Amino acid sequence: MKKALDAWAKRAKSEGYRSRASYKLLEIDKKYQLISKSQIIFELGSAPGGWSQVISKNKKNDCKCISIDILDMEEIEGIDFHKLDLYSDEFKKRIENYSNSVDLILSDMSVNLSGIKVVDEEGNKDLNLFCLGISKQMLKPDGALLIKSFNNSNLLYLKKEFEKLFTNVYIEKPLASKTSSAEVYLLGLILK
Ligand SMILES: C[S@@+](CC[C@H](N)C(=O)[O-])C[C@H]1O[C@@H](n2cnc3c(N)ncnc32)[C@H](O)[C@@H]1O
Repeated sequence: MKKALDAWAKRAKSEGYRSRASYKLLEIDKKYQLISKSQIIFELGSAPGGWSQVISKNKKNDCKCISIDILDMEEIEGIDFHKLDLYSDEFKKRIENYSNSVDLILSDMSVNLSGIKVVDEEGNKDLNLFCLGISKQMLKPDGALLIKSFNNSNLLYLKKEFEKLFTNVYIEKPLASKTSSAEVYLLGLILK
């Protein structure tokens, strides 16, 4: 297993990706063509930039991508990065101009692990619900939301919340995502 994981990291290094996470987005995007169809993309939790690199390479020339993280991120061509906390008033203010205008919201966010299972699970659930909340406000009618989630007792509830908002809902587990990790990706397509 460790060998296989090392292979993803090695591949990322040799292909110039900042993180193995790039391959998770590449696989999902290959299946659903989310990036190439989009004119405005919001990426939440972008550092160190593995997903931003994938967006930069696959987006249309005139597609605008706004990427957000609490941490710094080195510049990536075509990506408009802002160092912000998603829960800040500043973020709230910035998204006011994007009502019903965004094609794609991506989130690879997860909380910094506290080691207390229930606290971490609730923190991640809150991040997921926050993304759903802003999707209602920001997405175009045919918009899409892709978020990192976790296969735990909250997943069924979160899937149901997705199904209230989106016509099509999928759970994806890309090959580059460790099989030992509960990480999965929830995708919602087309607002109801
Ligand atoms: C798994 S990393 C993202 C990796 C990235 N997709 C890549 O390919 O390089 C998750 C990121 O979410 C960010 N994050 C977590 N909570 C956040 C918050 N409240 N506001 C902004 N960013 C947050 C973390 O700082 C971290 O960089």
